[in-house]
Amino acid sequence: DKGGWSSFMAKEISEEPEAVAKTIIGRVEDGLVRIPELEGLDADTLRDIDRVVVIACGTAAYAGMVGKYAIEQWARVPVDVELAHEFRYREPVLTERTLVVSISQSGETMDTLMAVKYAREQGARTLSICNTQGATIPRESDAVVYTHAGPEVAVASTKAFVAQITAMYLFGIQLGQVRGTLDDSRARGLVRELQAVPDKLASVLASGERIREMAKWMADTQSVLFLGRHVGYPVALEGALKLKELAYIHAEGFAAGELKHGPIALIEPGQIVFVIVPSPRDPNSLHAKVVSNIQEIRARGARVIAIAEQGDAAVLPHADEVIRIPLASPFFEPLLAVVPLHIFGMELAAAKGLDVDQPRNLAKSVTVE
Ligand code: M6R
Repeated sequence: DKGGWSSFMAKEISEEPEAVAKTIIGRVEDGLVRIPELEGLDADTLRDIDRVVVIACGTAAYAGMVGKYAIEQWARVPVDVELAHEFRYREPVLTERTLVVSISQSGETMDTLMAVKYAREQGARTLSICNTQGATIPRESDAVVYTHAGPEVAVASTKAFVAQITAMYLFGIQLGQVRGTLDDSRARGLVRELQAVPDKLASVLASGERIREMAKWMADTQSVLFLGRHVGYPVALEGALKLKELAYIHAEGFAAGELKHGPIALIEPGQIVFVIVPSPRDPNSLHAKVVSNIQEIRARGARVIAIAEQGDAAVLPHADEVIRIPLASPFFEPLLAVVPLHIFGMELAAAKGLDVDQPRNLAKSVTVE
C-alpha cells in the first residue's frame, strides 16, 4: 500500500527519519549503546577481534563504507569493505579474530550469502546487519542486528540505507565502549548526535519540491557527476548509483581529491556536478579543499549543485544551486546529505516518465550469483 504516495519510493523516502529512529530504539541505555542482539558475540569476542571486514553489494556496500570511517575512528580497529561477489573468489585472509559484518536489506542476496558462508568456513566471526526478520543471511550468522526500516518495496534502496548506517554507527560506538577507545562522555555525545538525526532528516525532506523543479530542467541530461570526501564519498557513489538504476543516466561518483588525478578531464561546459560539501567546522579542514575543487570545476564550465550545511556562505559565490542540510558533526552529515540525492534520483526518473519503483532489468533482491 503506497499510503497515498505516488510511488513506493516516495513513501519510503518519507520514512527515512523513522527508519533511523526505529533502528536506535531499544539499543541505548543510560545514554550509552547496548545492543541486546550482540550477545551472540560477547564482550570478550568484541575486545579480541583484530579486524573487521564488511561485505555487501550495491547501496548496502556504500553504507559499509560510511561505517568503515566511523568504526576505525571510534573503535580503532582496521575495517575493510569489500563487494561480496569479489570477496569469495580471491581467498581472503581470515582468522578467528576477524569479524565479518554483512549488510543486506533483503538478507537474501546470493553474493552476500555465499560470502558469509565462506567466511564462517574459514573460522571468522559473522555479524549480519539486515532489514528482513528471519532471512537467510542472519540465520547463517553468529549474531544479527536488525535495521528497523520496515519493508522496503521499491527496487532502489533508500530508507534501508540510512538504517544500515545507523546500525553500523551503533555497532561502532558499542565496539568503542567495549574496547575502551571511546570514553563514556564521548560515546554519550555520539549517541545524542545520532538521536538528533531523525528530526534533522525531517527538515531535509522539506527541500523535495525544489529538487523536483531542478530535476525537471535536467531531464535531458546525459551525464551527472557526484563528488564527496571522507564520509561524503560513499554518499557520492550512492547518488550516482541511484541515477543509473532509476533514470538510466550515466553517472559517476568520485572522491573529490581524485579529481586532479583524472576525472577533471571530463569537465566541459554544462556538465552537471553534485558536490557534497563537508561542514566548515570539519576538523580535517576538508571544507576548504572541497570549495577549491568547486572553483576548479566551475572555472571549466561545470554547473555545480552543492549540498552544504545551513549557514555555509563560502559555497555561495561558486555554486549554481545550494541545497541546505542542518548542522551536524561530520559523521552525521551523510545521513542528511543522501536524502536530497535519493529525492533527485526519483524525481529525475519521474520527469523522464519512467517507472520509479521498478526500473528495467532489476530485481529487488538478487538471489542468483
Ligand atoms: O538486499 P541487499 O541490501 O543485499 O541488496 C543489495 C543491492 O542489490 C541493493 O542495495 C541495490 O544496489 C539497490 N537496487 C540499490 O538501490
